[in-house]
Amino acid sequence: MFLLSLIFFTSLVSLVSSNTIVPAIFTFGDSIFDAGTNHFNKNCSAQADFQPYGQTFFHHPTGRFTNGRTVVDFISQFLGIDLQKPYLQVEMEIANGTRKSYPLNGINFASAGSGVMNGTNKDMGVLSIQDQLKQFKDLANQNKVDKKLIQQAFFFFESGSNDVFNYFLPFDTSKLDPDAFVQTMLTEAEHFIDQICQLGALTIAIFSLGPVGCVPARVNLPLAPTDKCYGKMNKMVKAYNTGLEKLAKSVPSKYPGTIATYGDVYKVVQLFKAMPKHYGFSNTTGACCGVGTLGGFVQCGIGEYTICKNPNEYLFWDYFHPSEHSYKLISKALWAGKTRVIRPLNLKSMSNTSV
Ligand SMILES: *[C@@H]1O[C@H](CO)[C@@H](O)[C@H](O)[C@H]1NC(C)=O
Ligand SMILES: *[C@@H]1O[C@H](CO)[C@@H](O)[C@H](O)[C@H]1NC(C)=O
Ligand SMILES: *[C@@H]1O[C@H](CO)[C@@H](O)[C@H](O)[C@H]1NC(C)=O
Ligand SMILES: *[C@@H]1O[C@H](CO)[C@@H](O)[C@H](O)[C@H]1NC(C)=O
Repeated sequence: MFLLSLIFFTSLVSLVSSNTIVPAIFTFGDSIFDAGTNHFNKNCSAQADFQPYGQTFFHHPTGRFTNGRTVVDFISQFLGIDLQKPYLQVEMEIANGTRKSYPLNGINFASAGSGVMNGTNKDMGVLSIQDQLKQFKDLANQNKVDKKLIQQAFFFFESGSNDVFNYFLPFDTSKLDPDAFVQTMLTEAEHFIDQICQLGALTIAIFSLGPVGCVPARVNLPLAPTDKCYGKMNKMVKAYNTGLEKLAKSVPSKYPGTIATYGDVYKVVQLFKAMPKHYGFSNTTGACCGVGTLGGFVQCGIGEYTICKNPNEYLFWDYFHPSEHSYKLISKALWAGKTRVIRPLNLKSMSNTSV
């Protein structure tokens, strides 16, 4: 009897809580998440607002650095909410009067090329995680984004690939050793998460970097192998990821009432590389669209590039970025996957748990 009522009670609870909808996502990061922020930033040279970007899903370039949707787009669809617009587009629409108020489904602040360090690729005009934080902070402090919405929303953070990649550029003059460099990155990430929590965020997902040492663009680095991933780079990535997971674990005790999860994107991509056929990939090493060795010399769409027949059979769409198919599989893993890919909670559980 007790057991029965317990079962009844828990199923009632899960019925009720599955009606709890996360209405919005606020996203911060780099090109993995950029939905067109750089496109609306005419000062910025990191762009994907030209053919053939977007060709598979949107059928036109949107500023996203892939052939279709990104992870944030897929998660939005799983939640049943509209895709978020880039912050700069929202600001321009407010400024020219086509929009009266800020969106209720969240905003995407991610800027391609940016890093967790404020200076990373600043010469390209990118908006660092610190710049993105300031944009959000101003909206929150001016009540342009409702406090209740902030409490109900998902906050997504993914940044660091560009800092690590740039560390290996021949003309980068970082004086820090790899461990100290990773620590500096983690300090920035922690500062970012602290600020977001202090602004009222309650449901946070911190995503690991993928194996950046495997991107086709590594062929431009003097010491990187072309027949396998760049081990030294992946070692730094793993150290950073370990720190991110610790950070995620520390959030709930530091900010009671918050829930934070860690999405192990690195692990998911490793699974793709270990069992390509199982995941529908015919190529997990080279870019579908690009130039030269592994399609890694320059960005897709520039100069005399080649493009593969079936982009979604490739892990990589271009020299840095996964294909839409990769993003779709990553999104499914983050949404409903087990603790080996996202922990302690997957995004689906988080969406039922959040207030
Ligand atoms: C572009 O640069 C100009 C001059 O440096 C600056 O005033 C403006 O705010 C910048 N725009 C963006 C979107 O960053
Ligand atoms: C307002 O700005 C948006 C974003 O830049 C643009 O798409 C739209 O065409 C503009 N509308 C008018 C009436 O200027
Ligand atoms: C980041 O750099 C910009 C200049 O590009 C500067 O205005 C801003 O104060 C810096 N932010 C932090 C947190 O250092
Ligand atoms: C994968 O694609 C890259 C570039 O498009 C090419 O150089 C490489 O040979 C391909 N690998 C396989 C196993 O087909």
